[in-house]
Amino acid sequence: MAFTQRHLLGLEGVPGEDIEAILDTAASFKEISDRDIKKVPTLRGKTVVNLFYEASTRTRTSFEIAAKRLSADTINISASSSSATKGETLADTARNLEAMRPDAIVLRHPASGACSVLARHVGCPIINAGDGCHEHPTQALLDCLTIREHRGTIAGLTVAIVGDLLHSRVGRSNVHALRALGAHIRLVGPPTLLPPEFGAFGVELHSRLADGVRDADVVMMLRIQRERQSANYFPSLEEYAQYYCLTEDVVRLARPEVIIMHPGPLNRGLEIATAVADGPYSVIMEQVTNGLAVRMAILYLLIARSKSDETLETDAAPAPLKTRSGGRA
Ligand code: CP
Repeated sequence: MAFTQRHLLGLEGVPGEDIEAILDTAASFKEISDRDIKKVPTLRGKTVVNLFYEASTRTRTSFEIAAKRLSADTINISASSSSATKGETLADTARNLEAMRPDAIVLRHPASGACSVLARHVGCPIINAGDGCHEHPTQALLDCLTIREHRGTIAGLTVAIVGDLLHSRVGRSNVHALRALGAHIRLVGPPTLLPPEFGAFGVELHSRLADGVRDADVVMMLRIQRERQSANYFPSLEEYAQYYCLTEDVVRLARPEVIIMHPGPLNRGLEIATAVADGPYSVIMEQVTNGLAVRMAILYLLIARSKSDETLETDAAPAPLKTRSGGRA
């Protein structure tokens, strides 16, 4: 089975075999970034618009580099440089962008559901680069690729996701992806940041960090989303750090081959101790590297599919571009 969606709005409901197909494609793209000349003509003549209404270091940059490595033209639009500052709605902005015939729009927006709205107003593929508290699918995909590289498979692993689950789009997308791939998931955090409805996802809920991390194969720390918190969910940052900061002592409770993940940006000393973030179990920089390959894969899969009636220079893309089950990705 190949990934056949028109847009990438989220990972809720995406079957595990589709996620594996994306990861296989991303894995096949990694080699391009190790070449002397890091470019293939796969998306030559295509245009990717990066429309970012929120700050971003990793996601925006890696989407831009990913598009360029595939020879697509890229346009970057930020909230401050768009006509949103003059009162234009997202739908109107999208219609105007579409009139210039882009081949994909990558959207980051503070409102949950903004990408679905955009997808109803434009004809080209929409890629969710993080919408409010809803989803951040490419982050979860790069996280899954990183776990798979280290452990070979995700099925059967115990993955502890720690922190501000209530507001984290990264946490939400990872729950959907990791469940689809057969992981056993523990969500860990203060009860105020662990909505009980997460229980419906068939995951364990823990309010003690030690209980969540004990014997885990993967520990994924989340950023405290202070910009999205409308109330005091814990007494103070100092108290949060006292109970939920991942220290070397807590890491020792996990399996000896544990990997430590964080999507960034890091709040050192609040969510994760520097000794852990920069320590031997950390794969945080590998996550960033894999983000590039995952975004190349998503651009390739969505633009190639939406332009399937045209000739894309897919021969220039790296082999195999096949799913594990053998079909074309
Ligand atoms: N992980 C992530 O989304 O980082 P940015 O906000 O820098 O894009």
